Amino acid sequence: SSGTGAASGGSGAAGAASSDALAFDEDAYTTLTTTITDADGADHEVEYRFYKAVTYVAAPVDEKYQSLNVSVPVRIDGTAVDATDAPILFANSVGGYMPSSVADATGVGGGGATGMPGGGAPSASASPSPSSSASGEVASGGNGMVNAQGGMVSLPKLALAAGYVVVEPGARGRTLVDADGTYYGVAPAAIVDLKAAVRYVRSNKGRIPGDVDRIVSSGTSAGGALSSLLGASGDSPLYDKLLAAIGAADASDAIFATGAWCPITDLEHADGAYEWNWGTNATSSGSAVDQAVSKELRSQFAEYQASLRLKGLNGFGTLTARNYDEYLVRQYMEPSATRYLAALSDADRKSYLAANTFITWSGGRARFSWADFLTHVGARKKSTPAFDAFDLSAGENNLFGKGTTKARHFTLYSLRHENGGSARLDSDLPATLHLMNPMPFLTEKPNPHRTKHWWIRLGTKDSDTSHTVSANLAAAANALGDEVDHLYYWDEGHGANTDPGDFIKWIARITN
Ligand code: DHB
Repeated sequence: SSGTGAASGGSGAAGAASSDALAFDEDAYTTLTTTITDADGADHEVEYRFYKAVTYVAAPVDEKYQSLNVSVPVRIDGTAVDATDAPILFANSVGGYMPSSVADATGVGGGGATGMPGGGAPSASASPSPSSSASGEVASGGNGMVNAQGGMVSLPKLALAAGYVVVEPGARGRTLVDADGTYYGVAPAAIVDLKAAVRYVRSNKGRIPGDVDRIVSSGTSAGGALSSLLGASGDSPLYDKLLAAIGAADASDAIFATGAWCPITDLEHADGAYEWNWGTNATSSGSAVDQAVSKELRSQFAEYQASLRLKGLNGFGTLTARNYDEYLVRQYMEPSATRYLAALSDADRKSYLAANTFITWSGGRARFSWADFLTHVGARKKSTPAFDAFDLSAGENNLFGKGTTKARHFTLYSLRHENGGSARLDSDLPATLHLMNPMPFLTEKPNPHRTKHWWIRLGTKDSDTSHTVSANLAAAANALGDEVDHLYYWDEGHGANTDPGDFIKWIARITN
């Protein structure tokens, strides 16, 4: 369903790219037509210009990953669309902190149809095993999100059908290794690449249609973490040298809004947070984790949480390890269950409540305790420590590899557990951890160039990380006066996205 792009002429961009090497070729597109089912189930015929595998840095390390696709709507349901000033969805497809490439995509969102299980992208990323790390594994295209019916959700497709410009960047990831055995996609490569891609888009203002001051980022899991980080760290000079090294365009990398689904972030504090949240839950094999380790990690969380001095949303006081359970239940879990139950038919609600007697349903509101909620979730996904595994087997150990070292410890606790009490973290790690964590950009020294709009989503049954991770992110942004829209999908697991249509509408509202 195509036809090839513009005949000729019409180059001569309005904007100025920083160098010719990074000038977007407006004429290098294919015209594609596809049918996209929107979030309300209505089909739309969308004709769009598809620009494929555009290298976004002047000195690429690996073009397969350091390239992006652009989709520009031309006609929707037969009506011409002018996307000149449309919002730009900047949708990464990173999963598991693995490499992500869009170079083989056949259309927006990876190509293929939308609304069908597996119908989206060639998605190896739906639920990457955090501990798998064979080199050459690629999570590519699409974003692996699932709706309540178990179908694939493609935000890029939904955005295109709404008339937005869609940019899909690839990025290096942790498993990439060159012939010399050097790991060239470990932290902070992925965030440097995404920033370079934003700079490329902005430096091509006028060549790439869309409003470069209305870039909205999206991502899920590791991609959600990177989306949050992109939003929090906009224009931070801490990345300048790394960006210069790959020949990034000389332009702002600040973005307007962040969409983040189940962000796996704040990694150096995630082991403690995980034990605070899921410490008493057994693993899927039915065994309890080492309770001595779990307890030590939990006390680290208490210390960290106190140091943040974050206030909860809606007037809740300072969040601590002692009151966070109450906060999560009142602010997030009960409203989530309430929304879920309220949307059911009377008969379905009745049978759900009969099967889940821990919920008290009264006055149109669900109530329950944190302990019962934990029992309801059941098995925890990870063992302990969840992120900095003692045996270096976690994906995050590989993420913080360096040079020819595939995997390292990145917390003092796990390092010393293995190597003794006088062991020291490698000296580069504190800076690298900072470059990978949105929290310091919101708390220690709030970044004035951060995004001011946050859309954060998470399934209540997602135990890939602690529920405090997203809630802290939301609380930190809220404390700075940013707009925060954060809610949980009831009974949904890792990677869920059951309100994609609301996100598309949210973009319209905040960019208006
Ligand atoms: C992802 C999941 C994890 O459990 C993790 O530790 C890191 C990333 C992911 O799905 O992207």
